[in-house]
Amino acid sequence: MIPLLDLKRQYETIRPRIEKVVQDVFEKQAFILGEEVRALEEEIAEKYGAGYAVGVSSGTDALLLSLMALGVGEGDEVITSPFTFFATAGVIHRLQAVPVFVDIEPGTFNLDPEAVAAAVTDRTVCILPVHLFGLMADMQRLLTIAREKGIPVVEDAAQAIGARRVVGGKAAFAGTLGETGCFSFFPSKNLGGAGDGGMVVTGDASRAEQLRRLRVHGSHPKYYHHVVGINGRLDALQAAVLRVKLAFLDAWTEGRRENARRYRDLHATYRLARFGIVFPEEIEGAYHVYNQFTGRFPKRDRLLEYLKEQGIGAAIYYPLPLHLQPCFAYLGYRKGDLPNAEKAADEVLSLPVFPELTEEEQETVIRTIAAFYESEG
Ligand SMILES: Cc1ncc(COP(=O)(O)O)c(C=O)c1O
Repeated sequence: MIPLLDLKRQYETIRPRIEKVVQDVFEKQAFILGEEVRALEEEIAEKYGAGYAVGVSSGTDALLLSLMALGVGEGDEVITSPFTFFATAGVIHRLQAVPVFVDIEPGTFNLDPEAVAAAVTDRTVCILPVHLFGLMADMQRLLTIAREKGIPVVEDAAQAIGARRVVGGKAAFAGTLGETGCFSFFPSKNLGGAGDGGMVVTGDASRAEQLRRLRVHGSHPKYYHHVVGINGRLDALQAAVLRVKLAFLDAWTEGRRENARRYRDLHATYRLARFGIVFPEEIEGAYHVYNQFTGRFPKRDRLLEYLKEQGIGAAIYYPLPLHLQPCFAYLGYRKGDLPNAEKAADEVLSLPVFPELTEEEQETVIRTIAAFYESEG
């Protein structure tokens, strides 16, 4: 069995440290926000040069709070990707705003800046790029469009903590270029907690203060409300676990990148191009953190079945683009409207890339894939 992700292997390397900090939180019996959360916020803000960081209850709430802080509301348009996890668009809908889906670049699976520029109207209040699978979107061009039109950018960096991309001649971390950047600490993320968690980062002190209030029902001072917020707080337990893991994140990320490199080598060795298999290429000036290693595979659904039978974990992220989800039928999109996203949904498959994966396991994955196509003729 080769799982898509094996968190137990990671846990075995940090078990005593985790047990200790969990025990410390229980000794203190202080579970919501507090010292651990403050410390994690400072460490993340410092590590990524983000200015300010606000710990929140999930990546979804990081996005929701960011849009609330911008005042996004009924009838406002937010331009985003149809090829992402549901939360990205779910939060737009929840604020009674309108998700405006535009197509992706086939090579990166990220928002196509030209399509974004073409979709801007006088109701556009936000551009919401997603740094999918751990690769930053083309922020250079997206920021140029946003600045020209005077529209704020919120980065969905849920899958991309630690990713970088050169913008304006300088490498910047995912999340630090927009008005806010949103991280998820869902357990399967590169920095994953022991449950739900998330963070908003921003370079603006007053925005950070606003977000801190919004995450506690808009309360300031306590029990006085000038605005209505949500219960969007991060737990001390999560922060304590995440602080332990943060110290290892760079090494784990390097492990993922090494595995990605090895997959590309194996692609050549096993001549996978002859089957029409495409693996993600490194983009110049971008540091991909490979939350997922996602390729394109002909006969994808049959391959996935075969891999399952052979005990190899793989998954489709994502099988149905958001503009075609039944809940968004009211928006009026039709099949064929966003062809790059639709094609990606039909072809993609993510392979195991977690840092503890062994070379032998990687070779088994690739050998099994080659065997499938050879047997198909
Ligand atoms: C691209 C993207 N956006 C948003 C989210 C939402 O994060 P969470 O699950 O922490 O709410 C996730 C992860 O689940 C994600 O992958």
